[in-house]
Amino acid sequence: MSARILNKRQLAPEITLLDVEAPRIQRRWRAGQFIIIRPLEHSERIPLTIVDSCAERQSITMVIQAVGKTTREAVALEPGESLCDLVGPLGEPAEICTGERVLCMAGGVGVAELLPVARAYKEAGNTVVALCGARSDSYRILDEELRACCDELHWATDDGTFGFHGNVVQLLLSLAGPRSFAEGHVIGPIPMMKAAAEATREWGLKLHASLNPIMIDGTGMCGGCRVTVGGQVRFACVDGPCFDAHKVDFDEMTRRTRAYRDLEQIALQHDCRIGLGR
Ligand code: FAD
Ligand code: FES
Ligand code: MG
Repeated sequence: MSARILNKRQLAPEITLLDVEAPRIQRRWRAGQFIIIRPLEHSERIPLTIVDSCAERQSITMVIQAVGKTTREAVALEPGESLCDLVGPLGEPAEICTGERVLCMAGGVGVAELLPVARAYKEAGNTVVALCGARSDSYRILDEELRACCDELHWATDDGTFGFHGNVVQLLLSLAGPRSFAEGHVIGPIPMMKAAAEATREWGLKLHASLNPIMIDGTGMCGGCRVTVGGQVRFACVDGPCFDAHKVDFDEMTRRTRAYRDLEQIALQHDCRIGLGR
């Protein structure tokens, strides 16, 4: 079903927020779930996290980092235009504990994906400490929204232009140690999630990682999003996307997400006019 774009906002270089009309998803979604969109008729399908919603406008919010062909097609659309189709909510909601001191960690566009989870933790009566990483000050996103739902928000920038100078895992190690948190949620680039899992392995912390493998159908049919967790095969679109970070095989996931890099580059450079209805 197509979905009209109501609002568009540039949050940072290459990072765009879109509010789209989606009444049924707006009524049902929960923190941690995602949608699959096809921006144009000829586009491939891509998964995006549901970041927020508005009951009054019957809309949901997504935040998109333009990294390749399909994300660029999505962010080129303007208010009044429509996404060709959108399906969701997909995946299992994030597991939210109550009454604990929790760690919320994110890097890059993962900061947007963290927002609904941080909010859900806060609403469930937890003390929420968010650690967010960005390349540089100009790449920090949703600071105000996160401050409104977190007890503490700390930033790390790679170039030291805001907050801690370094990455978000170094920031974690500078602020916390074993028993600092009962539970946590990490989302962002795979090397960051892997480093967060390694750093906290002996801390007695239950750390959920929201995984971002390649997804195609989002319904458990194609096998594209296969990941290994604790030696078991799992499908991130239906069994996840959140799993125990200390049990995820991040090296396998890295290999699988890189499998089509050459083709992705060709797709970006070459405006193919055969196939897929064009
Ligand atoms: P391409 O050039 O085709 O690919 C660039 C890289 O993106 C690839 O190397 C691969 O690692 C990854 N990728 C490519 N195709 C897919 C695909 N079908 N599914 C997943 N990853 C892919 N990004 C955001 O900007 N905001 C979000 O809120 C967000 N939420 C996500 C939630 C989930 C559950 C998952 C799995 C991914 C999420 N992503 C999100 C990542 C986003 O789906 C990819 O950046 C996008 O698919 C890239 O497509 P492309 O054609 O623009 O880039
Ligand atoms: Fe096809 Fe998960 S995306 S099985
Ligand atoms: Mg692509």
